[in-house]
Parts: sequence; C-alpha cells; structure tokens
Amino acid sequence: VFLLAAAAGLGYFLGAIPFGLVLATLFGLGDIRKIGSGNIGATNVLRTGNKPLALATLILDSAKGAIAVLTFAYLIAPNAPLAALVAGVAAVLGHNFPLWLRFKGGKGVATTLGTLLALSWPVGLAACGTWLLTAALFRYSSLAALFALGLAPAYAWMFSTPQNSLGAALLAVLAFARHHQNIRRLIRGKEPKIGAK
Ligand code: G3P
Repeated sequence: VFLLAAAAGLGYFLGAIPFGLVLATLFGLGDIRKIGSGNIGATNVLRTGNKPLALATLILDSAKGAIAVLTFAYLIAPNAPLAALVAGVAAVLGHNFPLWLRFKGGKGVATTLGTLLALSWPVGLAACGTWLLTAALFRYSSLAALFALGLAPAYAWMFSTPQNSLGAALLAVLAFARHHQNIRRLIRGKEPKIGAK
C-alpha cells in the first residue's frame, strides 16, 4: 500500500507540471489558456504558430508519464508492475487536474502516450501509430487522440497484461470525458483542423 501511495504521489506531482503553460509563458506567447481551445497541451501551443515549442510541450508532457512509469518499473519496484501503472495513471491525473491550476489542467493525451510507451513499447507504438494515421487522414488532433486512446486497451490486451489493459481502459474513459467539448465540436463540424489558428 505504501508503494502504491508513493507511486500515486510521485506520478501526480510530476504530471502536474503544466509544461505547455510554462513554456508559452517563458517564450512570451502569453497565457495559453486564453488562446484557441484554452487547453494547456501541445495541440493548443501549436495554435500560437510556434512549432518547436509545441513539439517541446509534446515531448515534455509525454516524458512526465514515461518517467513516472520507468522510475517504478526499473528503479523502485521492478517486481511490482502495478506500481508502475499507478504512477503512470497518476501522472495523467496530475496533468489533467493540477493542484496549482485549481485542478484545471489538460486532456492528458501526450502524458497517456508517454505512459503507454513506458509500460509496454508495442502498446505505445501502436497507439502513437493510430494517432499519426488518424491525424494524417482527418487532420483533427482530438479525433486522433480519441482513436488512439480508445484503441489502447485493445492493444494492451494483445501486447501486454490484462492489468495494463484495464489501466489503459481507465485512461481512455478519462480522455473521452476530457474531450467532451471536442466531441461536440467534431459532431457539429466546428472542430478546428491541425494547423488552423
Ligand atoms: O491533446 C489534446 C487534443 O486532443 C485536443 O486539444 O486544444 O484541440 O482541445 P485541443
């Protein structure tokens, strides 16, 4: 129990670092929450027109999930795969509900992909591949995320453990809930495509 609490705590506080907000502020782009969709993720940083900064946000937000998982999978508890999973899920929760932003965080796509890659690289690769393929076909970041994370539990069932599949299902439900406005815009045909301001 102590181990799982430590995993949850470390994951949460790592995940709660809002890199999109920090980078956009540092580089003088203003408050990212007042731009585009108002989200603190890489997709919205891209709407400022700064591609390198969007890429940096994507990498750093993914790294939060990956580092949380790898710390427990390799350093702290190599024999307790549940601890690594808990750390990754907690990182996504930290990203989505950060204490210092009054729990108003992001949608957890990058952090979930980083978590999946670290938990099981075939699952992560399959999810990233699904994201890229959907984005290439339809040009909607949110739709790509819904496909990628929605299929992740099935990928984890095939390539990893039932436990990780259950974790991926939890993250998928969370991602769909966080994208309710995007889903509404997609249905109405009002969702901005990737690259549109
Ligand atoms: O990663 C979040 C993405 O799926 C949607 O972002 O800014 O278009 O709401 P956004």
